[in-house]
Amino acid sequence: MKKVAIVTGAARGIGNGIAYQLATEGYDIAILDVFAQEDVAKNVDRVIKAGAELLYFKGDLAKTEDRLDFVKEVMNKYGRIDVLVNNAGVGPKVRMDILQTTEESFDFVMNINVRGTYFLTQAVANEMIKCKETLKDCNPKIVNISSMSAYTSSTSRGEYCISKAGVSMITKLFADRLAEYEINVYEIRPGIIYTPMTEVVRAKYDKLIAEGISPIKRWGYPEDIASVVSAFVSGKFPFSTGDVINVDGGLHIQRL
Ligand SMILES: NC(=O)c1ccc[n+]([C@@H]2O[C@H](COP(=O)([O-])OP(=O)(O)OC[C@H]3O[C@@H](n4cnc5c(N)ncnc54)[C@H](O)[C@@H]3O)[C@@H](O)[C@H]2O)c1
Repeated sequence: MKKVAIVTGAARGIGNGIAYQLATEGYDIAILDVFAQEDVAKNVDRVIKAGAELLYFKGDLAKTEDRLDFVKEVMNKYGRIDVLVNNAGVGPKVRMDILQTTEESFDFVMNINVRGTYFLTQAVANEMIKCKETLKDCNPKIVNISSMSAYTSSTSRGEYCISKAGVSMITKLFADRLAEYEINVYEIRPGIIYTPMTEVVRAKYDKLIAEGISPIKRWGYPEDIASVVSAFVSGKFPFSTGDVINVDGGLHIQRL
């Protein structure tokens, strides 16, 4: 029986890189994303070509019904969940100074990044506990994709920063709660990664990177994140949980 990985927001960007990587390692994949499958066919096809059986569920992480239907479909199709990668996330639709921004924008970002992630993790964790108890080869892991924004102030997108700090607490809470079931929880904090999300700020970040904002002077790529997910789910960190790794070219280092 193949192992099964859920990757949210895997229609494109970092999530697609993670789904592809795990597919090459023999996982079957389940994707929850708001895009229609036909609109991201190329990205989905490469995951299938890498060897995965794929469940693509078009749904909204912020919606309770979508989350629960998704988990139900995953269990009906595969009967197990070995890995959950909480990757789906959004920034505000419009960046606005924290002195002007709106409650609508706050709710939009928090409902997806925090509420959605928290309650999807709850639903999946309960299935993982059952898998762990019934399947000998099931050693589930959870990986949360937060951001350098979990600790970095950007006053033009405060709601995003707050949401990513929230994701970091979700890591700690579930690491603590699931330890008794030997389900380890990890967190990756990406820095500046080349994806559709950062398309609007490409020129700005090109300049900052060239000027040396990070010690390693290049964009990060989805593959940089995917290889760390691969390491975390490999089982090589059995006595570590709630741990965070920065995948940011050293951007987090305070420098003088
Ligand atoms: N790109 C970066 O520089 C960067 C840096 C730090 C953290 N991150 C985080 O990494 C994750 C992936 O980012 P990315 O750059 O690949 O972004 P992206 O916008 O390119 O991809 C995000 C994916 O999530 C999906 N998604 C968005 N809202 C959803 C919802 N409500 N329900 C289901 N799916 C939804 C999108 O449709 C998309 O496929 C996000 O959590 C983001 O905050 C990105």
